[in-house]
Amino acid sequence: MKAYGMDLSVNFCGIRFEHPFLLSAAPPTDDLDMVRRAFDAGWAGAVLKTTSVEGTPVPLKYPMISSTDLGPQRVASLGNIDLISEHHIDVVERRVEALKREYPDHVVAASIMGSRQEDWQTLVQRLEAAGADFIECSFSCPQGSMGERPGAMLAQSLAATERVAGWVKAAARRCPVVIKITPQVTDIVEVAQAVQRGGADAICASNTIPSLPGFDVATRTPSPGLDGKSTYSGLSGPAIKPITLRTIAEIARAVPLPITGTGGPTTWKDAVEFLLVGARTVQFATAVMHHGFDLVEDLVDGLAFFMEDAGIEHVSDLVGAALPRLRGHEDLPGDLRARSEVTEALCVRCDLCHVACRDGGHGAIQVDSDRLPRIDEERCVGCGLCVRVCPTGALHLKVERCAQPS
Ligand SMILES: Cc1cc2nc3c(=O)[nH]c(=O)nc-3n(C[C@H](O)[C@H](O)[C@H](O)COP(=O)(O)O)c2cc1C
Repeated sequence: MKAYGMDLSVNFCGIRFEHPFLLSAAPPTDDLDMVRRAFDAGWAGAVLKTTSVEGTPVPLKYPMISSTDLGPQRVASLGNIDLISEHHIDVVERRVEALKREYPDHVVAASIMGSRQEDWQTLVQRLEAAGADFIECSFSCPQGSMGERPGAMLAQSLAATERVAGWVKAAARRCPVVIKITPQVTDIVEVAQAVQRGGADAICASNTIPSLPGFDVATRTPSPGLDGKSTYSGLSGPAIKPITLRTIAEIARAVPLPITGTGGPTTWKDAVEFLLVGARTVQFATAVMHHGFDLVEDLVDGLAFFMEDAGIEHVSDLVGAALPRLRGHEDLPGDLRARSEVTEALCVRCDLCHVACRDGGHGAIQVDSDRLPRIDEERCVGCGLCVRVCPTGALHLKVERCAQPS
């Protein structure tokens, strides 16, 4: 796809993607016709929803989805108590075959989960034979991985991560093996290193985050309520993007495996952020479940326009480009003097900066009789809170280098 004449293609584990955007393993990839429509809409690839060997029980429970809103914004996050696909390998094999036959230039990946060595290895071999381009292993289902301690995810055990990654890799002949991990661990780098020791080809970082989306306080019913009861949900969508960025960055700085990013992107800018911290491709689920497959047009156009405008020739030039800017707190400059400044023409006199600074900052913003904010230069330390709460962009920080460290 050449949007604005730009070549947006990327290489992930030797596989060419027309652009870096693909669907992650989730409901949008759990139906053959839906994936066909997604490919027709312009998605470069899809990871089919996680499958298992025939006979594996998949006791889905409904309703399974909840959400949190933030003021007028619906779906600041989704919560789900979904499991893997109810469609077993026999169905998914046929889907992979059909998709590769009909869309040979699109990337078709299969996601797998097993409980025994023989299951993991059978799944890889059959999906490889069906024509899958890569195999993603779900080590991070928030409802627990089969065969592990109930409720625990496989990727929460370093030993299990290394062992099972090794089983899958040993069985794969042609397909790159990608391990999908969870950010819900103490040290994400240790997990990524275990994936590497297991011999896998790449990491998918990361997944939903275990959560409790909320309650109806009148009835004490947790959400989603099933006859008044619920369980912990996997949180996805915009609310988790900052956690995903941190997860990808930490892995990219420490482990040389390629990364495909998942967890929170909605816009092309989000996707560029994923690339900047080290992802080579970006997967989408919640944004598509909210806005539909046509979202990909905005992603492709936005990325192409951004690259053309910035004079960036290849998507790969963006990958990891922001990592050198991430430092330990001790390495950050201590000689900057920042102060807030007001652009009066933009101020709507809402008082939010005054209240935030008074009760959460340094009491450095007074309001005049005409309710315009006035910055007390002596009290302002340049923390940046007022800039963040201003709804109109009327405040900004002026930053100077000073002789004496503050
Ligand atoms: C309803 C639902 C079902 C999901 N099922 C799977 C699954 O079967 N296997 C898997 O690896 N990830 C599954 N995921 C996780 C997504 O692939 C994705 O990693 C996660 O939602 C974070 O990305 P997002 O913020 O773009 O949604 C599911 C997500 C949702 C919302």
